[in-house]
Parts: sequence; C-alpha cells; structure tokens
Amino acid sequence: MPADLIDLAPSRRSMKEDVLEGLTATRKWLSPKYFYDRQGSALFDEICELPEYYPTRTEMGIMQEFGPAIASAMGPGSVVVEFGSGSSAKVRLLFDMLTEPRAYVPIDISKDHLKSAADGLADDFPNLEVMAICADFTGSLDLNIRQLIDGRLVGFFPGSTIGNFSSPEAKDFLQNTAALLGTGGGLLIGVDLHKDTGILEAAYNDAKGVTAAFNLNILSHINRELDANFDLKRFRHRAFYNPDKGRVEMHLVSTHDQDVRVAETMVPFAKGETIHTENSYKYSLDGFKDMARSAGYSPRQCWTDENRLFSVHFLEVA
Ligand SMILES: C[S@@+](CC[C@H](N)C(=O)[O-])C[C@H]1O[C@@H](n2cnc3c(N)ncnc32)[C@H](O)[C@@H]1O
Repeated sequence: MPADLIDLAPSRRSMKEDVLEGLTATRKWLSPKYFYDRQGSALFDEICELPEYYPTRTEMGIMQEFGPAIASAMGPGSVVVEFGSGSSAKVRLLFDMLTEPRAYVPIDISKDHLKSAADGLADDFPNLEVMAICADFTGSLDLNIRQLIDGRLVGFFPGSTIGNFSSPEAKDFLQNTAALLGTGGGLLIGVDLHKDTGILEAAYNDAKGVTAAFNLNILSHINRELDANFDLKRFRHRAFYNPDKGRVEMHLVSTHDQDVRVAETMVPFAKGETIHTENSYKYSLDGFKDMARSAGYSPRQCWTDENRLFSVHFLEVA
C-alpha cells in the first residue's frame, strides 16, 4: 500500500527570498537545503556509495554492531520520526531490529524522493503505518504528530546532517525536536567526529566528481525553480577543511567575471568569487553531549566505530 503524504513543502516564494538574500550578501551563500531536488537526492545517494565517503558505511556499521543496545534504548512500540530521511536506507536497519515499531514518519524537503522511499518502505514493512511529511525541518516543526499517531515518539537524525548547522542553529533544531518529541521521547542521532584533514578533504572531493556534480546541482535547481540562467560550466566545486571553525566548507567558485539573472534580479560575480553552499561541522563526543544538554536532552548512550570516525548518540528528552 502506498504511504500517506502530508505536503507542507516550502513555497517558491520563500525559496526566492532565501536565494536572493544569499546571493546579494557581501559573501554569497546558499542554504544546503536547496541541493535536494530529485537530481540532488539521487546524487547524494551516489555519494553515500563512494569509497572516499566514510560517514554512511561507518554509521551503518555502528548501527549493525550495536543493534540490540540501540533497539533497547529506543524501546518497543515506538513511532520513529526521521528528519531528512532521504532514501530511508538507514531506518531499514532499525525496523529489522525494533520490537513492534508502531509507525514511521519520514520528514524531508525533497518531495519526489521522499514519496518513493516511503512507498518502498511501506511495501517492505506491511505492518508499519508510514506517514511521510514533506516539510522544511529548519522551520517551526509545528507538527502535531501525536494527534495523528499514538505511541512514544523517537526521532532519528542520521548522516550527521546536524553538522550542516552552525552551533546556534544546531541548538535551535535540537530544542525544536525535543518539543516535538515531547517528554519521554528520544532521539537517535549520527554525528561526525573530528579527524585527520586528509580523510575529510578526500570525502568531499571524490575522484569520480560526484560531490562536485552534487554541489553544482544547486544551480540547476535554482535555474529551474526561479527562472535563473546560471551556466554550470562557469562555476567549479571547491571543498576544504577550515581548522579554525572545525568544519568542511563547500563552495562554488565563479571561473569568470559574469552576471547571472535570478528571477528578476541580476547578480554580478567577479572571477574567483565564491558561493558558500555547505558547512559540515565536526564534533567531539563531549562537545556534542554538552550541546544536547543545553538544548533540553539527557545524553543516555553513545556508540562509535573502532577508528572513532563517527558516533551515534541516544538522547532522551529531559
Ligand atoms: C545529508 S542528507 C542525509 C540523508 C539520510 N538521512 C542519510 O543519513 O543518508 C540530508 C537529507 O535531509 C534532507 N534535507 C536537507 N535539508 C532539509 C530541510 N531543511 N528540511 C527537510 N529536509 C531537509 C535532504 O533532502 C536529504 O534527504
């Protein structure tokens, strides 16, 4: 049976306001949420398979190795609410381990990808109620899931997507999820750890150029949605570790002096000027737990791989 879909996708108008705010700033930027149209989601799935991209296989390895402990922390009869569910590949590991999960609520901004992943999951787990919500999780998260489905709400936020937020944004997001999940609720969250610069820079500069295509796809998405005329051949991908900020940065570098039309606005670019498209902050175990506490969670358990590349935390709403 196909999954239910609640469509709260952000409007074209809000995308236009966000994009123009970023492109008319002194240092140009775009929100990483605009990577994810149908093509961007497919490219992200391809990134997850790359040999250089350690986070996906490492996080899945941790979930497999510590499956029973994770399932016991999440408890029986839970309603799993996934933020940024993408292909829903990782949650399948949970549904193989959890005791009588009641329902699955994937939330993602990329509507087509969300719908097909949710339908696939509903087919493969016929006893599970699947209710997909297309929404921007950086918004108010004012979703009354309890009114729709009964049960203990347990959030799932894998892939270190939390790393895309600055520290105040991450705290806000965690506070909003704690309010949504409610007292007694929990959150299973994947968090990437500080490590050798070489490993980090290779992960965001793969040899096949998939990450470059993913980064450039944000311009195709803007061309299509906002009637813009970015020439993708006139921008190139750049990713590097910024040690002062503890984050990997992705940029698109203008290879020429050029003017680009975005909706009704002309945006000038100097040769070498960049659009900052993504940050991926890295954490220490204690640094992340401190942030979780400050946002209203009690860190309960934490698991890592043997090389301490990645971590998975279980937090309870305090
Ligand atoms: C880095 S991918 C992670 C995908 C998957 N959870 C994983 O761990 O492999 C981020 C996911 O979050 C979604 N996403 C990004 N920003 C979002 C936002 N502001 N609101 C809702 N979904 C968002 C994307 O569409 C994408 O599926």
